[in-house]
Amino acid sequence: MIIRTTLAPLSVNNIPDNDFDAAVVIDVLRATTTLLYAIDAGASKIIPVSTIDEAFALAEKYDTAVLCGERDGKKIDGFHLGNSPSEYTAESVGGKILIYASTNGSVMLKKVQRVAKEVFLASLRNIGAAAKRIISKNPKKILIACSGLERFVSLEDTYCAGILIDKISSQIENIDTDDSTTLAHIIFRYFGYNVDKMFRESVHARYLGNELGLWDDIECASQIDSADTVPILKNGEIIEDYVI
Ligand code: MLT
Repeated sequence: MIIRTTLAPLSVNNIPDNDFDAAVVIDVLRATTTLLYAIDAGASKIIPVSTIDEAFALAEKYDTAVLCGERDGKKIDGFHLGNSPSEYTAESVGGKILIYASTNGSVMLKKVQRVAKEVFLASLRNIGAAAKRIISKNPKKILIACSGLERFVSLEDTYCAGILIDKISSQIENIDTDDSTTLAHIIFRYFGYNVDKMFRESVHARYLGNELGLWDDIECASQIDSADTVPILKNGEIIEDYVI
């Protein structure tokens, strides 16, 4: 298996169309954590969009859709839900179509569809399930796409990628890696499973906690292997793939 990792979102722009058999998108704080919640709460599908204007335009087409997402970590004016996992309950999203606009995660989800035939969503909460899914599919060439933070690298996404790489490489021999993949693996090996220590070093965790008081979101995002759903992105829509 060939594994390539992009640590910052702009790197995806230089990848040719359909270059990868599969991609795993990671945005631990908070997009892929929250989207996992939304799927587990019974959302029928989620449409990621890059901009707020795109979200409002799409809402004209799906008039019962729930508008969700954030800018600067805060709920967007005119949207129904922000980006805290706890907002995504059976009552708020069960059976509904969600239109989702977040700063980094939804942008990466839009971008990556061009370069990979299959797209999975991973966070710390479902990283074991995502690894199992990849190992059982055994794609020839896989991209681990870290959503990053405003065009730059994010520690928590890199760390989560490192766990995925660790799990895959413990099961599959002869993996061909690049330096970004090795770097992510080293970051995971440095912190081990001490997620709190990792989050203490994370700029975005400090912003969400210290500036916005969203400590519960960080706590929720830190629960490694607490979920076994692996959402997939197909034809522009996020749906539940299967439960292991
Ligand atoms: C993002 O997509 O940039 C994030 O999920 C930001 C956040 O809400 O913390």
